[in-house]
Amino acid sequence: MKRIVLIIGGGIAAYKCLDLIRRLRERGIGVRAVLTRAAQEFVTPLSVGALTNDRVFTDLFDLDDEREIGHVRLSREADLIVVAPATADLLARMAQGHANDLATAVLLATDKLVLVAPAMNPRMWHHPATRRNVRQLEADGIQFIGPEAGEMAERGEAGVGRLSEVPKLVERIEAMLETAERASSSGSSKRAAQKPLSGRHVLVTSGPTHEAIDPVRFIGNRSSGKQGHAIAAAAAALGARVTLISGPVALPDPDGVEVRHVVTAQEMLEAVQQTIPADIAVFAAAVADWRVASPGTGKIKKSAGTSAPKLELVENPDILKTVAKRAPSRPALVIGFAAETDAVVEHAVEKRKTKGADWIVANDVSSARGVFGGDANSVHLVTAAGVESWPPMSKVEVAEALMVRAAQHLLSSQIAV
Ligand code: C5P
Repeated sequence: MKRIVLIIGGGIAAYKCLDLIRRLRERGIGVRAVLTRAAQEFVTPLSVGALTNDRVFTDLFDLDDEREIGHVRLSREADLIVVAPATADLLARMAQGHANDLATAVLLATDKLVLVAPAMNPRMWHHPATRRNVRQLEADGIQFIGPEAGEMAERGEAGVGRLSEVPKLVERIEAMLETAERASSSGSSKRAAQKPLSGRHVLVTSGPTHEAIDPVRFIGNRSSGKQGHAIAAAAAALGARVTLISGPVALPDPDGVEVRHVVTAQEMLEAVQQTIPADIAVFAAAVADWRVASPGTGKIKKSAGTSAPKLELVENPDILKTVAKRAPSRPALVIGFAAETDAVVEHAVEKRKTKGADWIVANDVSSARGVFGGDANSVHLVTAAGVESWPPMSKVEVAEALMVRAAQHLLSSQIAV
């Protein structure tokens, strides 16, 4: 029998755990419940215990518990740890690695997969401190489900903060139990199970392209490739096989990534076509929109008395659009970037549609922001569900957060099939 430890945090949504336990047990999944002190204000150990048909665990310093079955054993005997509802406070303590009650001690002692279902007031969810804690936990390999948008328990309050509905939680728990089982039967460790992109192929374009004017001159742009290269590295760290197709950059090839070096947009398109199929394609390159129709075969001479040469430009292929509209081998998740200097979000929403991308990562590249060549980035993620404005982060953090989201997206679309 599969077994989970369900850590119930203190929030109005705690009552939904009673139904969750019932549904899980109907599916033959054993549930051991740990209640935080605050959770006991919302549900009683008696009602939870009646449904789990087991003891309910509440206090780290209960000597009997420690002798019979302590936090380490609770974790060891589970296939998966689920935290639902996870309050802002519990997320903060998890992110800090606290172990001052049984719930956090189990979470710190565990080497099992952990799924967190947050529920809280929308303002607490959007607070920079909670955003920071969620990013930290995602980087630690913790998986998230929800919260969802909707009405809050407080009158007149609405927004993102509702606990995911029970059927959704059950589906995700079952999927993660399968992942955990695959990882343990193939003898791999939790680290392998925490590599949610293992077995996936991720294609990333990065850097600028250079379009020749003649053998010594070119049209180019200020892209450094830092964001694209960070995405390739983040995908590899999550276990993906990664092909990075890079224009001319001054960066080293990331470790553990296959890199194909190209110069022009046409070469980049060709390399992308040869690399597909892929599960995820991320187009972070700043591809030159135009190239010179007939580049000089020799260096164009500047001679006295003659006027400056006129360059005829032709449009380059749109690599992202070509791949996004490609059938039948379209990657399951196509992510584009939109670098804009004004009306950043509006343009990105439009671009998502015209290009056929699933997600657009939009950033403000007006010179005051120093995004080009810099290490920081401030992005908006545009998806079919809407626009999320992420707090300022380093390009490495944006890359990690984006690839974690991409992995979760693939997992949940798999569940939907
Ligand atoms: O149209 P725009 O250049 O703003 O679109 C940006 C997005 O499209 C980026 O993801 C970029 O990598 C991709 N793109 C492309 N091929 C082009 C132009 C842009 O893949 N020729």
